[in-house]
Amino acid sequence: MAIRYLPPVAVEGHRSSGSGGPDHPMRIATRRAAGLDAGGWTPDLRREVEEFFDTLSGEWHTRTSPQRTAVVVDALERGLGPRHSRVGVAVEVGSGIGTYSGLLAQRFATVLAIDLSLEMLRLAPSGIAHRIQADGSRLPLRDSCAAAVILINCFLFPAEFDRILSPDGALVWVNSSGAQTPIFLDAEELLSALPGKWTGTSSQAGEGTWCVLRRA
Ligand SMILES: C[S@@+](CC[C@H](N)C(=O)[O-])C[C@H]1O[C@@H](n2cnc3c(N)ncnc32)[C@H](O)[C@@H]1O
Repeated sequence: MAIRYLPPVAVEGHRSSGSGGPDHPMRIATRRAAGLDAGGWTPDLRREVEEFFDTLSGEWHTRTSPQRTAVVVDALERGLGPRHSRVGVAVEVGSGIGTYSGLLAQRFATVLAIDLSLEMLRLAPSGIAHRIQADGSRLPLRDSCAAAVILINCFLFPAEFDRILSPDGALVWVNSSGAQTPIFLDAEELLSALPGKWTGTSSQAGEGTWCVLRRA
């Protein structure tokens, strides 16, 4: 079996945002970006997404909580395994206002926090991560440079993430509200979108879901 499903863990007080089903514009964009539905990631769609998140940037802090952070911590701890020393480069695509940069900096020597929305990047703390405005579908990074690609409620660009990930690198996918997250794919959809064969673990923490994949 390509995916090992670990038992769920409870996150006290975690509530789903409950806003994102199959018709949500960001779910439609997610499936197009991943190549699961027709249409692809076009310049028009990129502009629409950039404007959408620029507009939401000022209120994005209201969508952060200790419970949501607990979902990411669970993905890192049970998905990536124990933290020994800070090595390698983590590329966090869709880093938003930098909520998770500190967590990633505890595990990786370098954190590249990449976002399409300049308004989101402007609100992120300085000093913890290198902040870069770029489109995840076309990253200004060398082949195989990343020990991990971190996607917390962000789109999957299969070919580009496959290009930048080192041969033994990990792809970390987190949906803070599980299937209710607007930008959501389940583990099997991730496997079918990525080029080649991958294997990994997946679980649920509170209302959130996560999946950590490596090449088989
Ligand atoms: C749903 S928000 C998640 C933000 C943060 N990861 C969190 O969970 O709080 C998605 C983020 O991805 C960014 N984004 C959307 N499309 C992107 C792309 N093509 N490349 C890089 N970032 C993108 C958005 O601007 C936004 O900040």
